[in-house]
Amino acid sequence: MLNEWIFESHAHYDDKQFDPDREELLSSMEEHGIGRIINVGSDFASCKHTLELTQQYEFLYGALGIHPSDIADLDEEVYEWLKKSAVLPKVAAIGEIGLDYYWEKNPEVQSRQRYWFCRQMELARELSLPVIIHSREAAEDTLKLMKGIHAQEIPGVIHCFSYSPELAEEYVKMGYCIGIGGVVTFKNSRKLKETVVRIPLQRILLETDCPYLSPEPNRGKRNSSLNLPYVVKEIAALRGITEEEVIRATRENAIRLFEKVRA
Ligand code: NI
Repeated sequence: MLNEWIFESHAHYDDKQFDPDREELLSSMEEHGIGRIINVGSDFASCKHTLELTQQYEFLYGALGIHPSDIADLDEEVYEWLKKSAVLPKVAAIGEIGLDYYWEKNPEVQSRQRYWFCRQMELARELSLPVIIHSREAAEDTLKLMKGIHAQEIPGVIHCFSYSPELAEEYVKMGYCIGIGGVVTFKNSRKLKETVVRIPLQRILLETDCPYLSPEPNRGKRNSSLNLPYVVKEIAALRGITEEEVIRATRENAIRLFEKVRA
């Protein structure tokens, strides 16, 4: 039994893959050392489900936002709903928001992604909430857009970071944290392993993105926060520090970023 508890900064327990055993699984988190979880909304339905989960589990907080791949869900009415709901005490962030040019090649839709990314960043600024950013195959536009709106004034995390160590350092300079999950345990994740060594420990958050991206040795299976110790082990080995140090630092980082989460 660990005497240090882990802060899971990015999970999707509203996902239908958890329908068969969601309650059993979430009820077992605290006894397995997962002390806080941020459940992150992606489309409108998952944001509503996230709010329900925050009511059900004391240790679970929510992030509300519309993922770039789901912006078809977003209009002024939904935006107003986000604005009204994000002030609830257990909503700790706006997310996940951002750009995804991997799944979306149509330039018109990409331009709508940029519009709603901007709007949701401004929502976070207005409500003084941190942001959880998703950026895939859109490195240049993400950075350009963020610099354009002075995103260094809005605290946040670049979740499931998939770019170069140099770009990670650029985000760190802007004040951002970098979300590290199961991918860091993959043999072919050379860039991410290098990133973990190069950025300050004070900027690393632990995340799963579950049910996706299970770490080794469970790669390919449904992921859950219970796999985070494998990620901790890899970060500790890469940086030459103890697992306890990784758990403690990443927890403190998350508590600093997500101000509404009770420590
Ligand atoms: Ni996610």
